[in-house]
Amino acid sequence: MKKGFYNRHSQPQAGAAAQGFALFERAAREVPLDDLVEVADLACFHGGNSMEPMRRAACILRERSPGASIEVTHTDLPTNDFNPVFELLSGPDSYLGPGVRASVRAGSFYQPLFRQASQSLIWCSAATHWLSRVPAPAHPTYAAQWSEQARQDWQAWIDSRAEELRPGGQLVMVGSGADSFGRTGAEGLVTMVRDTMAEVLGPRQKGRLALPTYHRTLREWLAPLGPKLTLKEVLEPPMPEPYWEEYQQTGNLETYVDRVVSFAIAALNQPLLKRQGGKELERRLRQRVQAHPDLARPRWWLIVLRLERV
Ligand SMILES: C[S@@+](CC[C@H](N)C(=O)[O-])C[C@H]1O[C@@H](n2cnc3c(N)ncnc32)[C@H](O)[C@@H]1O
Repeated sequence: MKKGFYNRHSQPQAGAAAQGFALFERAAREVPLDDLVEVADLACFHGGNSMEPMRRAACILRERSPGASIEVTHTDLPTNDFNPVFELLSGPDSYLGPGVRASVRAGSFYQPLFRQASQSLIWCSAATHWLSRVPAPAHPTYAAQWSEQARQDWQAWIDSRAEELRPGGQLVMVGSGADSFGRTGAEGLVTMVRDTMAEVLGPRQKGRLALPTYHRTLREWLAPLGPKLTLKEVLEPPMPEPYWEEYQQTGNLETYVDRVVSFAIAALNQPLLKRQGGKELERRLRQRVQAHPDLARPRWWLIVLRLERV
């Protein structure tokens, strides 16, 4: 993916993250403080949507404890390109300042990423719908395997955070979920992407088309909470729709199609598509979105959790 592409085409994720800011600020006001306060940002990708929540948290922590040293760690998979994060940290959107430092760390969030009881605050947005692996073909026949994989992964995520957070430490997770009927709100766009991928990559690649994503219902999100991590707040806010709103105001379909297609490609981040048929996928996906702009609205069902380590 070209440098800066995700950061330029992730306004829906930025809007989703914003739904968690008030909860993250409340967490920053409540967590116990020492001379060193460690803050983690899990699954930062290129960092464009990480600067604002970190800035808000650092501001409150510095206000509460002006002498404290605040260390923020941005994490993502080892395959991630962290260079854009460093560029942001040295630019005008940076939250760095006196007493506030940053670093990056590579690793999967399905394992502990930090030493035991070290983190005061953890932020994670728009990432927990990615499973650790594809458990079975993407077909309703295998629904039980997919939900079992999602259960195991979410349990591992929760256990890992419980290990890293210090007592009284808190986390805010903004996720893409599903309503009680299992609807994600983005079925139209996802179907367009899947159909286009199948066309472009051809039937031979069909087995490789399954994306390891799963959208949990509220019941699934809450299931592993309990003895170590307790629920402080839960919200299911509406998904902000910056592209659709702009289209409603301007009537400019061309721009809307550009934005939705770039957003879909940036969010997918599929190496297979980069190697084969990326341009063709884009062209055909554009046609589909153009034909049914309303159906392509990415209206993901959001969940925001604020949890505390007891
Ligand atoms: C859509 S991006 C979200 C980026 C950013 N947090 C935001 O709100 O825009 C999803 C990120 O999750 C990361 N991710 C997926 N699976 C992961 C895992 N097992 N461990 C850590 N990061 C993971 C991906 O590498 C990607 O950077």
